[in-house]
Amino acid sequence: MTTTHQTALVTGANKGIGFETARQLAQQGFTVWLGCRDAGRGEAAAKDLAADGDVRFVQLDVTDADSIQAAQEHIADRSGVLDVLINNAGIALGDQEGPASTMRPETIEKTFDVNYYGTLRVTQAFLPLVRKAEAGRIVNLSSSMGSLSMLTAPEQPLAQFGLSYAYATSKTLVSTLTGWLAVELKDTPVKVNSVCPGFNATDMNGNMGTQHPSEGAKVVVQAATLPADGPSGSFFDAGGPVGW
Ligand SMILES: NC(=O)c1ccc[n+]([C@@H]2O[C@H](COP(=O)([O-])OP(=O)(O)OC[C@H]3O[C@@H](n4cnc5c(N)ncnc54)[C@H](OP(=O)(O)O)[C@@H]3O)[C@@H](O)[C@H]2O)c1
Repeated sequence: MTTTHQTALVTGANKGIGFETARQLAQQGFTVWLGCRDAGRGEAAAKDLAADGDVRFVQLDVTDADSIQAAQEHIADRSGVLDVLINNAGIALGDQEGPASTMRPETIEKTFDVNYYGTLRVTQAFLPLVRKAEAGRIVNLSSSMGSLSMLTAPEQPLAQFGLSYAYATSKTLVSTLTGWLAVELKDTPVKVNSVCPGFNATDMNGNMGTQHPSEGAKVVVQAATLPADGPSGSFFDAGGPVGW
């Protein structure tokens, strides 16, 4: 295993895939800022990871501009740069509300506020710190559920998941942001990618996932530690490229 003295921020890292991502980055020697909206849960999670490396709680609610600004200043003061930004925080609402034709707009707005606007707000706030790093990496947690090519495939594989329109379209937007940022940053060392972590047993799906979130975290860490000749503006999972 290689060790590094780099710094990473993982949003929504008090549990699930974010927690396991924080653990794996800490084990590689990263100083990990463990973002959590609740101080009690965040401090407890950072304590749980203390044996894995240098893990520090930072209060961060991705829907709250003041919280994001305070976290940015906190990390800028202590770390100076940010080598890796993992936009992991996410929610899935409206499973009982059916498809697009019946889903309440309020459900869609709430989902977008965390999954898409949260990712956008955090990225905009932290990009100046990522640009200061030698080889910045931004990883956006997307999902194959947000893949338009899968949605429109003749066999419609997404239908088998009991498609949640709000969640799926929020992830489509996340992937769109990945593409736009990658183009904007193409002449810089910063790489921006979307990943799908597979189907993990977490609170988000009532622990129905088929793999432990430590498995899902592996592809996130892979994207966070891409070499200089690695891709940017890509969407991939553990098996390779995912259709946009
Ligand atoms: N699980 C899967 O199979 C799967 C598949 C594809 C993609 N993903 C994506 O992977 C990411 C992690 O999901 P997960 O399965 O690990 O879910 P999870 O266990 O429910 O964790 C979600 C995390 O996001 C945090 N969060 C929610 N709203 C937030 C906000 N406003 N500000 C900051 N943090 C917030 C949660 O914090 P609280 O504890 O405070 O609620 C929690 O730490 C999500 O983006 C999800 O869409 C998951």
